[in-house]
This record gives sequence, C-alpha cells and structure tokens, in this order.
Amino acid sequence: MSDFELKVLSGNAHPVLAEDVCRHLGIKMSRTRAQRFPDGEIDIKVEDDMRGCDVFVIQPTSPPVNENLMELLVILDCLRRASAGTITAVIPYFGYARLDRKAEGRVPITAKLVANLIVTAGADRVLALDFHSPQIQGFFDISVDELLGFKVIVPYIKSLKKKAICVLSPDVGGTKLARVYSKQLNCEMAVVDKRRVSGDTAILYNLIGDVAGKDVILVDDIIATGGTIVEGAKLAKEKGASSVIACSTHGVFAGDALKRIAAAPVEEVIVTNSIPQREEGRLRVLSIAPLLSEAIHRIHNDLSISAMFD
Ligand code: R5P
Repeated sequence: MSDFELKVLSGNAHPVLAEDVCRHLGIKMSRTRAQRFPDGEIDIKVEDDMRGCDVFVIQPTSPPVNENLMELLVILDCLRRASAGTITAVIPYFGYARLDRKAEGRVPITAKLVANLIVTAGADRVLALDFHSPQIQGFFDISVDELLGFKVIVPYIKSLKKKAICVLSPDVGGTKLARVYSKQLNCEMAVVDKRRVSGDTAILYNLIGDVAGKDVILVDDIIATGGTIVEGAKLAKEKGASSVIACSTHGVFAGDALKRIAAAPVEEVIVTNSIPQREEGRLRVLSIAPLLSEAIHRIHNDLSISAMFD
C-alpha cells in the first residue's frame, strides 16, 4: 500500500465521472478551481494540500481537445510544483491518438507528441482506457496501465440475449479488438475492408465473413463522425444481417454524427462515458466509473491491474 494519501481531482473535461469515481472509492474529490484568464489562458488553483499525496487527475482529452489537453498539462504542472508525492494522469479518452505513425510523408505523430507533453508536464504514471493502438503505451517513458472497455460492454451485450451473434470489425485495424469481443461472446467474427479517404469519409469495400441471418455486433474503438459505423451497418444489412448493434468504448460524436447514426440501420449504439454523454434515442451509455475506481484502488495499494482482466 502506498504511504501517500489518496487524492482524486478533475479539470473541466469530465467532473461528473470524477465525482462518480470518488463515490466508488469512498473519498471526497479534491477541490480544484479551473478558470480562464480574460485572454483565454488557463488559470488553475488546486485548493487542497497535495504535498506528498498519491494524486490521480481524471481528464479525458476529448473535444474541445486542445482546451482539455492544455488544462490537463497545466494541472500536472501545478501538482508537481505543489510537491505531490506521485501524480497519475487518468485519461479515459486519449485524443490525438489516431496519428500514431507516419502513414505518409510530412505528417506528425501526434500521439507521441501528446505523450511527451504529458510526461514533461509532470505525470509519473498514466492510466488510460482503450488507446487507439496498443503501441501508444510505449510512447510514454513512464508506467502506463491501459484498461479495456470490453469489460463493461460485453456484460451488457450478453444481457440482450441475442441468439445468433457475429462480431464485425469495420476495418482491418480493428480485428484485434473484434477478436477480444468474439472470444468473450463465444461467436464468429467478420471483417470489413475499409479505406479512409479523408477525416470524415471512409469507403467500405467488402465484407470478409458470413453475417447472413446474424445479429451483428459492430465493434470499434472510437466513433468520431460516425461514417465507419454507418457504412459498416449498411454493408452488414446488404449482406443479410438480421440486426446490427454498434458498440465502441469512445463516443466522440463529432459534428452531426448522432444524426447520421440515427438514420442508419442500427438498433442500438453502445458507448462508455469515457467522454461526457447524454443517453438519448438509441444511444446506451455504460459507466466506466467502477472500472476506473478499481484500477485507482489497485494502483494506490500496489495490486495487479492485469488481474482485473484475467
Ligand atoms: C479508425 O481507425 C478507428 O478505429 C475508427 O474506425 C474511426 O476513428 C471512426 O471514425 P469515424 O466515426 O469518423 O468513421
């Protein structure tokens, strides 16, 4: 067990989640004043004493991405200067993750840049949920624990008691995640051959596997514009699927994504609250607060995180 007192605090990105995590941990959330100077610069004051404490800052870097990221960096700097014992950046959604390699010339690797910023600002450890790709763990030269959203999504899918299910990955990059779901749900899987042509347009070419007569569980890590999910659902229906449920750890829902999805042949869209969400229409939001609080409890008490996924 850590000798340091456990403290949890939050910026403006997702205080509701942070409060819920504190409720599960049975502690009071530490008070932070996160405001803006008149010129828009971030003004942070942590109101409680942090000296020598084991501090967890809960802040997804979701939209407004730059605001939330910068706020996280300023809070980390603040905690370091306040002599916190250890500082863990709890990042339920890690923005800028999708540029994780040079897929063409003259492009940045923003996932690495953001990892560098977080470490430089003062994080000793990162606790995240479903990075877009596992190699992002290695972009940080500090300890990283990555939680997996299937832990909360799979029990919900099981509760729907669908009979002939098939997991569908909307792109080849998602097959590893789809395999996790198909193993957990003990069913077949299929894959779509997708090509992204721009930030908001993806062309889905072909479906490899058999979804005819099946209740398809379309699995992705992020829903951003909704294009991938919408086209994947349409293709599955064209290939004879009986129904389609979409699930994703992170619901970014950029622009009119929710409208787009509402017009698609999708029965239900399941996401977690890694990003603030309002449950409405076909959107089902599952809470990650129990998962995060258990991980924080384990880190604080030097217990295994991987045991949570055995
Ligand atoms: C891509 O590699 C990701 O796994 C998701 O498929 C993608 O981010 C979804 O984006 P959108 O909803 O804009 O199609």
